[in-house]
Amino acid sequence: MGSTFAKRLGRAIAPRPEFARDAHRGSITMAKVDVRTDGNIAVITISNPPVNALAHGVRAGLDASVAAANANPAIKAIVITGEGRAFSAGADIAEFRAGMKPPGLLEVIDRIEASPKPVVAAINGLALGGGLEVALGCHYRVASKSVTQLGLPEVKIGILPGAGGTQRLPRVIGVEAALDLIVSGNPTVAASALKVGLVDELADGDVVAAGIAYARKLVADGKGPRPTSARVIDKASVPADLFDKRAAAVGRHPSGPMAARHCIEAVRAAVGTSYKDGVTQEQKLFSELAASPYARALQYAFFAERQAATVPDIGADVKPREVKSVGVVGAGTMGVGIALALLGAGFPVTIVEQSKEALDTGLKRLKETIDNAVLRKRMTADEAMKRMVLVRPTLDFNELGKVDMVIEAVFENLALKKAVFAKLDQVAKRGAVLASNTSTLDIDAIASATKRPGDVIGTHFFAPANVMRLLEIVRGTASDKDAIATAMAVAKRIGKVGVVVGNCFGFAGNRMIEEYLEEVQALMLEGATAIEIDQALEAWGLAMGPNSMMDLAGIDVGHRIRREHKFSDERMRLYRVADALSEAGRHGQKTGKGYHLYDAKRTRTADPAVDAMFEKEAAAQGLERRKIEREEIVARCLLRLVNEGTRLIDEKIVARPSDIDVIYTAGYGFPAWRGGPMWQAENALGLKACFDRMKALEAAYGPRWKPSAAFERAASRAHPGG
Ligand code: 3HC
Ligand code: NAI
Repeated sequence: MGSTFAKRLGRAIAPRPEFARDAHRGSITMAKVDVRTDGNIAVITISNPPVNALAHGVRAGLDASVAAANANPAIKAIVITGEGRAFSAGADIAEFRAGMKPPGLLEVIDRIEASPKPVVAAINGLALGGGLEVALGCHYRVASKSVTQLGLPEVKIGILPGAGGTQRLPRVIGVEAALDLIVSGNPTVAASALKVGLVDELADGDVVAAGIAYARKLVADGKGPRPTSARVIDKASVPADLFDKRAAAVGRHPSGPMAARHCIEAVRAAVGTSYKDGVTQEQKLFSELAASPYARALQYAFFAERQAATVPDIGADVKPREVKSVGVVGAGTMGVGIALALLGAGFPVTIVEQSKEALDTGLKRLKETIDNAVLRKRMTADEAMKRMVLVRPTLDFNELGKVDMVIEAVFENLALKKAVFAKLDQVAKRGAVLASNTSTLDIDAIASATKRPGDVIGTHFFAPANVMRLLEIVRGTASDKDAIATAMAVAKRIGKVGVVVGNCFGFAGNRMIEEYLEEVQALMLEGATAIEIDQALEAWGLAMGPNSMMDLAGIDVGHRIRREHKFSDERMRLYRVADALSEAGRHGQKTGKGYHLYDAKRTRTADPAVDAMFEKEAAAQGLERRKIEREEIVARCLLRLVNEGTRLIDEKIVARPSDIDVIYTAGYGFPAWRGGPMWQAENALGLKACFDRMKALEAAYGPRWKPSAAFERAASRAHPGG
């Protein structure tokens, strides 16, 4: 390294840096490859921060660098690696929309594999998608022991590994193991990759040095290229029904109706065929997926989630406060779930309760959840112990004086919450973030109980809090920017998607769900049965239909809220059957019956008695009943969500429509392959068409269907189809 030759080589083959504008952030990144030599080895380094996405400049750079190294007689072998924390996270997803400029990734990788000199991948960090496909195109692979993500996650963005990955991976690790990785999209760790033969060697320390040493040894041993595509997978080595069985087992895949099945078909095409034929089929299937609305929606969802991490008026200059430990007040359903999420990220958690009995009950549930994870092999016993050691249970409120952030999860009662926050004001450290998990109460009112309202925010977790990914971070009138930034940082650390929302009744997600659920009541009065509604929305893609969701949450909860808060006469009329169900003790799953009936295993069946109640109420209200088609059920539910969503944007409760879509996909079981309610309205149904339908519904049903002013403005700007 450092020789004039190296400089010349570098100048000759390193392409001019390319500046790519990051589509959603507007930031500038530099996509290039760097080349140096180490004796007779050329070391090619992908450099495109932050994750070395394979943008045009990288593809062109790799292509030119490998060609130049091959053309240079002084070079005997080539090492490819990545700069920073990634080998490469794969194709640049932002490029998909605009279309990829040549050279394409597949041809670049094919040319790497065709190199007459041995090529070694020195996998320094995560290698995902096209990144792993580059490594598979290399003849040998050395990985750092610390690499935790090697995989082909394309299915999660609605496509398949489209740079030869579906053909090379089964040739390297076997068909069944390849199907596991490709269809789940989940990555594996370096140690497991070694076991299945995905990598040839693990490096403890400097992986580039190990890669160079590996290459040097290949040269010394006279070993040449080892092209994967030359191998043939014997048809007889694969069970005849493997692919059909896998396809039948796909079920409701998170990537939607197409991608997982196409992945299976692409791997099927690798068996008993030449690489050339297999890859032709891979490309055909890839193109079908890339053109599908599901892929577009999933790729939008990927960026929407990352965009939610930025709050328009909270820039990089606002530093989150340091959080080393957290306190949780209340060890009920939510307190325990929140504590579990925090423990999972290694936070010591002080849990405060009002009585020994409540504390013991909460701790028992916490321990049971962790033990269960060990039993199901989702956690090692060692990890479980590490988490339990971090739990600090106490009845002494003063213990909260030691923590950097407190999350309150006591009963939903304003007077009680104010009393808790007044006490927190007395004992908490200066600068500690004081968060409430309230779902309906006014954050400003809670903050007013303290002399430090700037430290007070809402952190609205979703049940079960240790599982659900969404965290609504509620910004009160006085909340300090760095308190919000702190909650965002903690959300990321505990694996949640934090979305900042304004302070209003129901915040963003629940305010919208109230509109949707009201429409469900109207549909049932008009003639749709409870089970028909759930089945229509589940067939459309929702994880759980609305009536099953209410049965899970408890019909009594909504009933109590309707008694305690003021709602329109229309809403109270539409909810008469729901209130009657609650008064009859039909609270949902917990009482064995609600909208549906539940057995001991909580399997639901339809209950004609509930349909009869709606029929009777409809007659009392003079409503005519009819058969309602699935399309109408889905459209009316969706449009109510969207209309309220537009109001939230107008009132600046949320910063952008994509934040609403993130809330719905991460917290409400809305399928990411449908983008989200706002994306659906704009991209699938068309804003103008939505608006016209709403006007027709307003004429038929009255003011609950009045499009918001924001909706009207947006629709008037949209062209007729969109
Ligand atoms: N393309 C473009 N940008 C990407 C990207 C990609 N493949 N992967 C990550 N980024 C960007 C993110 O948008 C984000 O940008 P921002 O800071 O401007 O918001 C930045 O890189 C950092 O990403 P994260 O915030 O997600 O950082 P994490 O450390 O939490 O996660 C990651 C890193 C695991 C790489 C995660 O970003 C990820 O899963 N990325 C997607 C990986 C993927 O799907 N690869 C396959 C791409 S498709 C493909 O290769 C097709 C091929 O087969 C032909
Ligand atoms: P819960 O009734 O299961 O638990 C509340 C706990 O707080 C009880 O264990 C109680 O003993 C304890 N507690 C009461 N006063 C206390 C005090 N002064 N000091 C210490 N502990 C005290 O209630 P849940 O469901 O966990 O709800 C808690 C909060 O989370 C509420 O504000 C609720 O609105 C909110 N929430 C609930 C969701 C849910 O699905 N259950 C979802 C999102 C938010």
